[in-house]
Amino acid sequence: MHNHGMHLPSNIDGGVHQVIEAGDTFIASWTVNQKACTNWYHPHLMGKTAAQVYKGLAGLVIINDIESNALDLPKTYGIDDIPLIIQDKVFNAGQLDYSPSRQQITHGYTAETLIVNGGINPILSVETKQIRFRILNGSNARVYNFAIIDSGSTRKSFTQIATDNAFLEQGVSMTSVKLSPAERIEIVVDFTNDDNGNFTLNDLDSSKEIMQINVDRPSVTPTTTMPAQLTTLSKFHLADDFNINMMLRSFTLGRTRGMNGRFTINGVSMDRAVINQRVPINTVEIWEIINPMGMVHNFHIHATHFFIIERDDDSANVPANEKGYKDTVRLEPNSSVKFVVKMVDYTTTDTTPYMFHCHILEHEDHGMMGQFTVQQSV
Ligand code: C2O
Ligand code: CU
Ligand code: CU
Repeated sequence: MHNHGMHLPSNIDGGVHQVIEAGDTFIASWTVNQKACTNWYHPHLMGKTAAQVYKGLAGLVIINDIESNALDLPKTYGIDDIPLIIQDKVFNAGQLDYSPSRQQITHGYTAETLIVNGGINPILSVETKQIRFRILNGSNARVYNFAIIDSGSTRKSFTQIATDNAFLEQGVSMTSVKLSPAERIEIVVDFTNDDNGNFTLNDLDSSKEIMQINVDRPSVTPTTTMPAQLTTLSKFHLADDFNINMMLRSFTLGRTRGMNGRFTINGVSMDRAVINQRVPINTVEIWEIINPMGMVHNFHIHATHFFIIERDDDSANVPANEKGYKDTVRLEPNSSVKFVVKMVDYTTTDTTPYMFHCHILEHEDHGMMGQFTVQQSV
């Protein structure tokens, strides 16, 4: 079982090398040493991740810390601090069906029925106040473009307060936000003046309604005011650790030719016996991910988080709501991303490497994954 977003030793990271045999028990214990954020767990079995996540093995892990506890944000779990795991499923005679065709493996398995925390068409009743949502795209392959729509079809603005692995430094006002598989956001929506209002959470890309939100409960949890500053992030490239000779690693996403082509990173498919990258600990590096294909991918790393510095070779293309700690980044067709990353805390051996991969699970399971070690010296 992999803890996605968690900084932990590689021998309990739950990657492809830590298989839990049927009937076995897997115990992982570590000191939580990272900022407050919304993480999640899911299995990571070689070639079987997509099927197992699809069939329901996925859940959130919320990390709180002194800083998050002190911020004036909604934080009453289930009342004004609401987790939303969004997925899409195919039901066949009432049963979850996972039987992707070749085509669905290539383009990722998307399905027509959207579910939230396991439920179809849920109705959420909220208080007349600021409400915080922690949203995980828990789908195998679907990219969502989330918006909150009022009864007059107008998009309601909201404030994004967190990316995958931490708060943003300041909230960013948004009217829609894209999330590729495994990405998380936290947002705050102000329903203070919306007594008896009816809203829906929609996916603009598929024009699907995901959930109804009715503002129909008196406010009993504390009223909150959005803090001007949420946290301070270390951005590596702007600070003292900036080093012009920083190591640049390049990762090009691809696929071998033919009907039964495999997905690749730098021309090779995932091989459990191969260490693809050896990364020195405590060193800031630039990783460049290139998607030369006509389809969407994303890129996720284990062990730590990163900070995006360029999209398509230009820092001006990085939107404000992505200027935070992330572990997964979306790559539109024919695009590239550069991020700075620093491995900290744990070194690995060759038998327990960390993984990086596309988090479109059909791509991950069909080769678009690699392994890296974190070493004292390389
Ligand atoms: Cu959600 Cu290898 O991870
Ligand atoms: Cu992960
Ligand atoms: Cu992909």
